[in-house]
Amino acid sequence: MPSAGQAPAGVAHPKTIKSFVRRAGRTTTGQAKALEEFGPQYLLSYAAQPFDAHAAFGRTAPLILEIGFGMGEATAHIARVRPADNFLCCEVHEPGVGALLKRIGEHGITNIRILQHDAVEVIDHMLAPASLDGVHMFFPDPWHKKKHNKRRLIQPPLVAKLAARLKPGGYIHCATDWQPYAEQMLQVLGSEPHLQNTADGFAPQPDYRPLTKFENRGLRLGHGVWDVVFRRRP
Ligand SMILES: C[S@@+](CC[C@H](N)C(=O)[O-])C[C@H]1O[C@@H](n2cnc3c(N)ncnc32)[C@H](O)[C@@H]1O
Repeated sequence: MPSAGQAPAGVAHPKTIKSFVRRAGRTTTGQAKALEEFGPQYLLSYAAQPFDAHAAFGRTAPLILEIGFGMGEATAHIARVRPADNFLCCEVHEPGVGALLKRIGEHGITNIRILQHDAVEVIDHMLAPASLDGVHMFFPDPWHKKKHNKRRLIQPPLVAKLAARLKPGGYIHCATDWQPYAEQMLQVLGSEPHLQNTADGFAPQPDYRPLTKFENRGLRLGHGVWDVVFRRRP
């Protein structure tokens, strides 16, 4: 009997717990068109080899990793208000990838590149130590049920990997509308020795993060939103 995390005989890799499920979801005609038109320029291929940011973006600039951009509403906004930064954006859900490519085309955005792949594998196999200036994780799936909590992204092993890939002074910015997850974020980031909170507890919403349609609806219903922003110690 293999021990935890060990592959059973004949299995190359142990089954890892994923932070997402592959959802069925229809790609609209507009998204499909955007995938075809803009995919070749903005979609990168996953490869287990060091990521060459200069080659991917055609310039050297601060590099921000976004994990799980959904339909890309906040992503496109942030890329437009921060034109001096490069955004490497991971999402597994194809309609979301099409939706962000559509926004890229509509607004002529040039500082986003998309990897349609599990961000955890991207971190593990493509990103070098001290290669990131920032990490965005907005409204990651809260996995409400206790038995599913292990699927949550923001847990000590991933946060340690992210801290190692941040440059000194680089930041991790998380946001959620689920209070128990917000508290977990604060606790997990607060326990990582390389990170330092930028606030006394939860952070004020940084001005670059927009209120999305989803968030506005939640706020109208009286739900809260929590931002958590930590920096890598010098
Ligand atoms: C609740 S949605 C939030 C989307 C977006 N950030 C927002 O604020 O609207 C979470 C997204 O993260 C994506 N996701 C979860 N785990 C991921 C992973 N390991 N790699 C890439 N995307 C992931 C899911 O597919 C989903 O679209």
